[in-house]
Amino acid sequence: MSHPVAEERPVAHGDALNWVRADLAEAGDPAAAAQRVVDQLRDRFAGYDWVGIYWVEGPDLVLGPWSGAEATEHTRIPIGTGVCGAAAASGQTEIVPDVDADPRYLACFASTRSEIVVPIFEGGEVIGEIDIDGSDLDAFDETDARFLEEVAALVAPLRPRA
Ligand code: SME
Repeated sequence: MSHPVAEERPVAHGDALNWVRADLAEAGDPAAAAQRVVDQLRDRFAGYDWVGIYWVEGPDLVLGPWSGAEATEHTRIPIGTGVCGAAAASGQTEIVPDVDADPRYLACFASTRSEIVVPIFEGGEVIGEIDIDGSDLDAFDETDARFLEEVAALVAPLRPRA
């Protein structure tokens, strides 16, 4: 099992929020801070196999920093398309326990079995999202969702400014 056991997860998530805050305080510029957050999420959570942030640009989601074994071809996704686009359109966190069973899923990696997408808000508007792919079925649950929603609030100020 690649995930920490259930009773350890809230502690791990609480610690993680502390290092996210520390990263944000220490990083010199927003792009470096955002890269560090995705790298740390992937390194510290065994089930978080590919971690990326997409930022809203007009009608699209555009890939920002990511951490994973492979680059994705989906660097620009129209809002409304895919699981990513659905979360951006609705403002709701999406947990997909089995990507093969979700017709909205846009395939990026052959290894992906499950996915979580968490919107990032500013002033009530979706300005981006955190997208995480897992190589195990059912890798994400409501604990991940609540944790990543807190991370999303912390990274919202890192959105690139035009
Ligand atoms: N699977 C996503 C596309 C992004 S890749 O996972 C990095 C989707 O269905 O929108």
